[in-house]
Amino acid sequence: MSTAPLEATRETITLLRHVAIIMDGNGRWARARHLPRAAGHHAGVEAVRRVTRAARALGIEALTLYAFSSENWRRPEDEIGALMGLLRLFIRSDLAEMVRDNVRLRIIGDYSRFAPDLVALLDDALARTAANTGPILAIALNYGAQAELAAAARRLAERVRDGGMPLVGIDEEAIEAELETRELPPLDLMIRTSGEQRLSNFLLWQAAYAELLFVDTLWPDFGADDLAAAVAAFGQRQRRYGGL
Ligand code: FPP
Repeated sequence: MSTAPLEATRETITLLRHVAIIMDGNGRWARARHLPRAAGHHAGVEAVRRVTRAARALGIEALTLYAFSSENWRRPEDEIGALMGLLRLFIRSDLAEMVRDNVRLRIIGDYSRFAPDLVALLDDALARTAANTGPILAIALNYGAQAELAAAARRLAERVRDGGMPLVGIDEEAIEAELETRELPPLDLMIRTSGEQRLSNFLLWQAAYAELLFVDTLWPDFGADDLAAAVAAFGQRQRRYGGL
């Protein structure tokens, strides 16, 4: 049997270090089945489990998932409650596996606005994976890219005002070092499910040179094969970073 496809996948993976996913379509998945929206989110968590495991198996260094945007507070209270409940369940049920698999859990976004017990649960999960050295799973919670950039700008401006750095020190590198993703490898591939073609305030700076992939699959139907197909599609793209 030829090993060429496997070699090709390995080569792609060495170039593809960081994948981000806008997990969209839970509501439509539920509606198609005459189920409440929360059932779609529940199925969405199953997809999170499948895809995080598949990313690890593929050797992807960092996976960033958009679980709750700063705009999601506009949803009905019961839906927000359901999402928070699922996040609790996910951390409780999957933390041991993350610890075992050497996963570094990270959170981007301001989750301090969440219920105190959930904040404590997340802090504990971060602490228990802090010493790990393996793949990164970054979950975006109450995250918005524009707010992230505004906060970075404020911190840098403060430093200039206080005499800690010259004005010309505010360059791309300085901004990048202030972003919540500063520990993560550069973003290579951004996937959005469910056929929508928007970035929805997710990783706007980081996406500058990322390949964008919009797929029609609804998030609860997304699985290991879809991730592998996305990796293969990435392998077909030619990244030129503005060059020829
Ligand atoms: C978009 O679907 C999805 C979300 C707003 C939430 C994503 C959350 C999860 C998959 C579960 C929690 C995550 C973790 C990490 C445990 P939508 O409701 O906007 O779908 P629609 O556009 O079809 O209505």
